[in-house]
Amino acid sequence: MMRFNGTAKIVCVVMAGLAMAGRAQQAESSAAPATLTIDASKTVGKVSPTLYGLMTEEINYSYEGGIYGELVQNGTFVQAWGDATWIVTPRGTAHGSTALDKATGPSAALPTSLKVTVTQADAANSLGLLNEGWWGITVRPNETFHGSLYAKADYAGAELKVSLIANDTGHVIASATVPGVGADWRQYTFTLQAGAVVASSRNHLLVEFNHPGAVWLQLFSLFPPTYHDRVNGNRGDIMELLAAMQPAFLRLPGGNYLEGDHINERFDWKKTIGPLVDRPGHRSPWNYWSTDGMGLLEYLEWCEDLHMQPVLAVYAGYSLKQEFVAPGPALEPYVQDALDEIEYVTGDVTTKWGAERAKDGHPAPFPLTYVEIGNEDQFDQSKSYDGRYAQFYDAIKKSYPALQVIATAPVKSRTPDVLDEHYYRRAEQFFADVHHYDATDRNGPKIFVGEWATREGTPATNFGAALGDAAWMTGMERNSDVIVMASYAPLFVNVNPGGMQWRSDLIGYDAFSSYGSPSYYAQAMFANHIGTEIVASELNGAGDRLFYSVTRDAAKGVVYLKLVNASSSAQQLKISLDGVTSVKPDAKLITLSAATTAETNSITDPRRVTPVESIVGGVGKEFTRTVPGYSIEVLEISVQ
Ligand code: AHR
Repeated sequence: MMRFNGTAKIVCVVMAGLAMAGRAQQAESSAAPATLTIDASKTVGKVSPTLYGLMTEEINYSYEGGIYGELVQNGTFVQAWGDATWIVTPRGTAHGSTALDKATGPSAALPTSLKVTVTQADAANSLGLLNEGWWGITVRPNETFHGSLYAKADYAGAELKVSLIANDTGHVIASATVPGVGADWRQYTFTLQAGAVVASSRNHLLVEFNHPGAVWLQLFSLFPPTYHDRVNGNRGDIMELLAAMQPAFLRLPGGNYLEGDHINERFDWKKTIGPLVDRPGHRSPWNYWSTDGMGLLEYLEWCEDLHMQPVLAVYAGYSLKQEFVAPGPALEPYVQDALDEIEYVTGDVTTKWGAERAKDGHPAPFPLTYVEIGNEDQFDQSKSYDGRYAQFYDAIKKSYPALQVIATAPVKSRTPDVLDEHYYRRAEQFFADVHHYDATDRNGPKIFVGEWATREGTPATNFGAALGDAAWMTGMERNSDVIVMASYAPLFVNVNPGGMQWRSDLIGYDAFSSYGSPSYYAQAMFANHIGTEIVASELNGAGDRLFYSVTRDAAKGVVYLKLVNASSSAQQLKISLDGVTSVKPDAKLITLSAATTAETNSITDPRRVTPVESIVGGVGKEFTRTVPGYSIEVLEISVQ
């Protein structure tokens, strides 16, 4: 049974057969019958067990304001956001102001802080600082929130009060006092316990001071319950959506986010590990700040939680504004950084970086098969990638001969193990190119379709995009002997105004809830129903709007037939299933369909287009299937 976070329309109907001559489905059909001949005894290739996975980066508020559980916006008081995110809110006669203090902070990584100068306040007249979170702060009944901050004060006995407040009523949902703030920087923790509230994201955080004097704040943090109760962990609803896709891998940390606009804005992994107070954060190329609370170890734990293997992209000396590091001695520190990173991921505790990982709380090494050198290096106008790739390749192969080294652009200096190719297209382009990999050289590098998407619909994709995606996936499945991995991008979008930098994304959310686009459901359907072998098949007479793939799992005794009808008309298909002894007449059918290509899901209507599951009868060695117009179908046929 597919797992769809409990959100899919699953309707089980036993139909009287698939051979529908003279019945309604045939009456809808306007196209002539086509024939699909399958020989399940003939394997034409192995399906890659890692075909379907995920690609992630900080874009569209994917982490902060997205999957990463942190509720406080701008908790590290980055200057540009200081005024907008921490709003001074005096009560009664209270008076005061805030300013970024560049002279003091709790660590070398966070050398600045927010100085709160309270000129007048008392118990009844507090000076407040209001933080709206990421377009709201969700509170559900009886939830416990764990908070922390670094603080110091210029007077003895300073204290502050932290509360969650309902925007509409001013009702105090939960509050806690942080007493005894001293003269030196120290971390303080607190807990906020909600009662029997109505679940809502229309809440904010309020930090109050009731005594004149100066207090400095840094690294203000508040976490709700997280997936698997991870400290510094992820949002449960989004993790559930991902889990339902059964992804085999996570390509991290980008994308452009790996490269940064400038070399000093790259994903500098060593600055993303260890205590949060030791992470300086950095500007992402998508034009907002990242605290790097989602750092390398958090990515790896995300992999662990969803049983994915990491596909580790290492910075390769090229950043988006055409800054590059020439191959040779200048590149050596970056190569060493990549080797250290691999050791952090895979080394045991006796290694320098494996020990560092253990110190960070994860003694067990992570599995790693693939390392990717850079991202989209075809855009490097200096044409230095060939040389840079060779230098990384040689060093990695020397220390880790078993690792597969992915190139992001064609190179001549070495034969890459895998080549990463990206496709952002309209549905029509995918329809026209579904045979793209049919003739790919099977003796060359394997292929990683590391970013791909049909870009139709916004913020998340619509059903027309799902058709383009599904058609493209049939092509990838038929060629999954050479395509080792594929990952859609971008994965996430925060649907609030200003939350999106890249339209047409897979999963949308706000502070309160999340939803899958039709593309999401198409992917989950495909990934949850895939065999281990590609079997011989031939389609004739179907026109150019019907796409399909057939795979088989011999151990399970199942043939998976995927049918994508991108036409508005139904298509009748005469199917011959040869090379099997017997076929169970009842098969599982999962259908994703819509009346128009514009139909979609949204934050307010999240389940308009979702898969419907049924049992169909009449399946056999010869049967007819009428594929409805605008539909994506998976037929799971039991065979012997
Ligand atoms: O997915 C959005 C961006 O598209 C990625 O960051 C980049 O690799 C590609 O150009």
